[in-house]
Amino acid sequence: MTETLRLYPPAWMMTRAVRQDTELGGVRLKGGSTIVLSPYLLHRRADLYPEPDRFDPDRWLGGQPDRAAYIPFGAGARKCIGDQFALTEAILALTAIVARWELTPVGDQPFEPKVETSLSSRGLRLRISERRTSGTGDAGLHAATPRSAPAQPSTPAHPSTPPGAGGCPVKHEE
Ligand code: HEM
Repeated sequence: MTETLRLYPPAWMMTRAVRQDTELGGVRLKGGSTIVLSPYLLHRRADLYPEPDRFDPDRWLGGQPDRAAYIPFGAGARKCIGDQFALTEAILALTAIVARWELTPVGDQPFEPKVETSLSSRGLRLRISERRTSGTGDAGLHAATPRSAPAQPSTPAHPSTPPGAGGCPVKHEE
């Protein structure tokens, strides 16, 4: 998640109003002007991130991102108030999906972000296929048995759940 937000910060630019004449990083700024800063450009600086365009989640193994060099949620007084919520939600959604489904790019079109007020995808076509597990049945998210796996008795999520219904609200084609 950290590496994805480094390469594709949805808020790829933000602004700040300069309240009075000042100097920032050797640049003189006039009071009343607006400056634009871009997490996208900052996150791709080679002096901060070796091979900056490469998707390399392992680059974060050494520890937490440097707050000054990593600002997908902004910084300072106007920093995003939903950052922890957004991260938790994204990780939960992603793990729920990839625990069961394998996502494969359809076609050979490279991924390109769509540049709008916030960054999103230009359309990413994926094929969703059921993961084949070698374990003993369901991991808990769903009770449906992978097509090719030997039939396992499904474990209802709750004693009141009818047999075979599992605990998942999503209807699956079997
Ligand atoms: C991946 C998801 C998200 C990203 C990348 C993101 C990013 C940002 C950024 C860059 C800012 C501007 C910060 C600045 O100017 O320094 C911002 C502001 C804000 N965000 Fe988020 N955000 C996300 C999700 C959310 C969520 C889920 C909520 C609410 C539940 C939220 C609520 C806000 C609010 C209210 C502000 C304005 C804060 C202020 O101006 O004082 N954001 N966000």
